[in-house]
Amino acid sequence: MCGIIGILGEQAEAAPRLIEALRRLEYRGYDSAGVATLNAGQITRKRAAGKLKNLETLLYETPLSGSVGIGHTRWATHGPPTKTNAHPHVSGPVALVHNGIIENFRALREALEDKGHVFQTETDTETVAHLIASNIEAGLSPTDAVAKALPELDGAFALAMLFEGEDDLMIGARKGSPLVIGVGDGEMFLGSDALAVAPFTNRVIYLEEGDWCVLTKTSHAIFDTSGAPVTRPISIVQSASASIEKGNYRHFMQKEIFEQPDSTARTIGAYVNALQRSVELPGDNGDAIDWSAITQVHMVACGTAYYATLVAEYWFEQLAGLPVKTDIASEFRYREPALPEQGGLALFVSQSGETADTLAALRYCKDAGLKTSAVVNVPTSSIAREVDLVLPTLAGPEIGVASTKAFTAQLCALASVAVAAGRARGKLSRDDEKRLTTALTELPRLISEAFQRDSDIAELARNMAKAKDVIYLGRGVHYPIALEGALKLKEISYIHAEGYASGELKHGPIALIDEDTPVVFVAPHDGLFEKSLSNLQEVAARHGEVLLISDETGLKEAGETPASTMTMPTCDPFVAPILYSVPIQMLAYHIAVEKGTDVDQPRNLAKSVTVE
Ligand code: G6P
Repeated sequence: MCGIIGILGEQAEAAPRLIEALRRLEYRGYDSAGVATLNAGQITRKRAAGKLKNLETLLYETPLSGSVGIGHTRWATHGPPTKTNAHPHVSGPVALVHNGIIENFRALREALEDKGHVFQTETDTETVAHLIASNIEAGLSPTDAVAKALPELDGAFALAMLFEGEDDLMIGARKGSPLVIGVGDGEMFLGSDALAVAPFTNRVIYLEEGDWCVLTKTSHAIFDTSGAPVTRPISIVQSASASIEKGNYRHFMQKEIFEQPDSTARTIGAYVNALQRSVELPGDNGDAIDWSAITQVHMVACGTAYYATLVAEYWFEQLAGLPVKTDIASEFRYREPALPEQGGLALFVSQSGETADTLAALRYCKDAGLKTSAVVNVPTSSIAREVDLVLPTLAGPEIGVASTKAFTAQLCALASVAVAAGRARGKLSRDDEKRLTTALTELPRLISEAFQRDSDIAELARNMAKAKDVIYLGRGVHYPIALEGALKLKEISYIHAEGYASGELKHGPIALIDEDTPVVFVAPHDGLFEKSLSNLQEVAARHGEVLLISDETGLKEAGETPASTMTMPTCDPFVAPILYSVPIQMLAYHIAVEKGTDVDQPRNLAKSVTVE
């Protein structure tokens, strides 16, 4: 999880301004930080491991001159949080900062090393600097060098770049990770969010997916993925509320859905070492959880977070062979649960970290002497403070009441922990770990690809918005996703919806099927697909309006039976429940918009429930 800032300034020294912006970005990471400036055309740089104050001290003792610079605050993903691995990264005439994950960095790095490039760090980011530098060395201008390099990068990124000898040039690019341009008076800025550039300007351009930009102090040129020039509007942002601006989006929920390539990448980056293709639990120095001594995991949560525990139950049992018990927090302590005297691990999941029932359940488990851990999004929350081991989600602030990016971040954290447990218990081999972590690092890109379905989903929503009841069905690990799909729809559209395990259909719910009841099947082509297909036929035979969400293979096998379909990118079954959460969020969102409800503040609900 990283924050980036770029300042193409006129007179004021860049370094203190970069620090000011980085302070506002610290919520995105704080394990190392760095800045680079152009001083008489030369790149100069200072970096420090640890909190931002270490960099500030360094700059106080040995200041950097120059009005043009870039800065970075890091949450380590590739390579430990050392000074060497801290951004900015430099290769020849290029210095850059990066947020995201370059998935194909290994192949690029090998090719560049073959050409004689010598790497200093273990990061994926340094590859980008070398790639652009090699294009410049081959005779291209900085702009052409970037234009040539960007299509070669797989994965998610926001980049800010400066170039030796180019005092009036800064280039930015975004794919998956957010990036804004700040338009000043005779100055330009780049930042991860509007909050970062708020001290310098309130005029902000939100770059769109695949955009890249070439800035001078007085101009900005924006290009789309194909290299065609595009115009993006300038928004006026209230600096006080810049952290909670909707940007170009109509609703926070929509913004947060579209942030998921970034929020999942950040969260996965906190757990997965993409270079080693291994899992390392944050906050766990190797001895915080002795997985071999754990005999049962007891997971407790509320609402959407509870559905995350239901998905995790499949992962922990299948990958780690660990018995799991899941509980709704409001039910938990009053039934006087029998807790294991030894070997029990209590695991709480909460976005806010303040949900009263979850907090009470945590205290109950602590009193019972259990080791406690929590997957939590707000690091300063009560749950985060009271638990033995914090397993962070790095979704960033979630404003929409209906949880979206926090849910997928919870799944990413839980998936990583399940792999760590599986490895530690000898249930997974090193090769299994490599395959599963690779699937996780590819997930943010697949989520971006799923966004291509947005207008199709809006079209489907027009019809479904007329329904009085909607049924969601899923099998195995997609059963909880069906539950979450139904919850999302209820919360924001007020349409009655129920989620069921597909196989349970004939034990009652099938009586609800008629031509006015849409049935949403969440069914990627996995080991259970044939069985889902049979259930789908049962619904279609009773004139149910089936919407099948699957991949190309699944949709091909289903043929003409479903009334409508949604095509998802093909993915490893391990990450499918995370990927398939996205279209069900988009479907609920579009249905609510169609119905004209208050999407971000639905009636009767609250974001954080701090009463029982
Ligand atoms: C409320 C929210 C839900 C959330 C639940 C649990 O009901 O509206 O979106 O899933 O609380 O909240 P937590 O902060 O503990 O995840």
